[in-house]
Amino acid sequence: MTNRTVLALGSLLPAEMEQLEAQYNVIKLWREVDPDRTLHTHAAQIQGIVSTYNGPGVSAKLMEALPNLEVIAQFGVGVDNIDLGVAQTRQIAVSNTPDLLTDDTADTALSLLLAVSRRIVEGDMYVRTGNWANGPLPLGSSLSGKVVGVVGLGRIGQAIARRCAAFNMMVVYHGPREKLDQPYRYYSDLVEMARDVDYLVLACVGGEGTRHLVSRSVLEAMGQKSFLINIARGSVVDELALVEMLVNRRIGGAGLDVFAHEPHVPDELKSMDNVVLTPHIGSATLETRAKMGQLVIDNLAAHFDGRSLLTPVV
Ligand code: DGY
Repeated sequence: MTNRTVLALGSLLPAEMEQLEAQYNVIKLWREVDPDRTLHTHAAQIQGIVSTYNGPGVSAKLMEALPNLEVIAQFGVGVDNIDLGVAQTRQIAVSNTPDLLTDDTADTALSLLLAVSRRIVEGDMYVRTGNWANGPLPLGSSLSGKVVGVVGLGRIGQAIARRCAAFNMMVVYHGPREKLDQPYRYYSDLVEMARDVDYLVLACVGGEGTRHLVSRSVLEAMGQKSFLINIARGSVVDELALVEMLVNRRIGGAGLDVFAHEPHVPDELKSMDNVVLTPHIGSATLETRAKMGQLVIDNLAAHFDGRSLLTPVV
């Protein structure tokens, strides 16, 4: 055990949490009755933060309150809840957990895509409620031969594209720039791509740069037969416009793992049979979450040993 103090804003899995607590004095902020007071009392000792992709994040205000903060180790690939500008100015090192979760997150996207297209969740309810006895479930849509537009062809976007290609779908993509090493057609204009695809799959980063990238005009361009799949961040979509378009059946359906104000999900979505909802489970498997926790611990150790971070956020 070192005498270093680490502020944890969320939990790792039990085994990794135990490891963390064996190595540091860990303040579990979410368990504190008066978190502000705890922070005030321990502010000068805190040298590291463990934050989580779905937690409160690390704001400029929190960093300001911690004069000796050196490192933020994020449990998750997305770092949109960390004020990276302030971290950079203060020379606070920031790490995340990329790569480990790429396959699981891409699998989640495909699960949603399959579920909405083939009415899997609806079909499950149909059987359980005995409705099958009254006739067959309405028909679904084929994946084969359809066009899927991936928004954000990074590691997760590419893993989604490979899976879609294996389902005989044609892949195209949109992002800030064309990737010449990728075999798929690039659209610089998202509205134009939305017009041409059957599925729009969001796999881009969150944060201010992509806020409401999927605007009302993009949703309108998709049309009645297209599906929206979002495993990126709720902030990427104009959620009010999406709900309105779904209520009025102006897009075909949606598979959503992320929402604008998690864990709040708009009530309208909960009663729609053409919408499949999951509670931000992109990376939620035992195997991946354990590896993510270990990488958080290894990044902290690297920093405090004076080595470079294993997976720095740049
Ligand atoms: C992340 O790590 O940012 C993902 O959203 C987890 O599902």
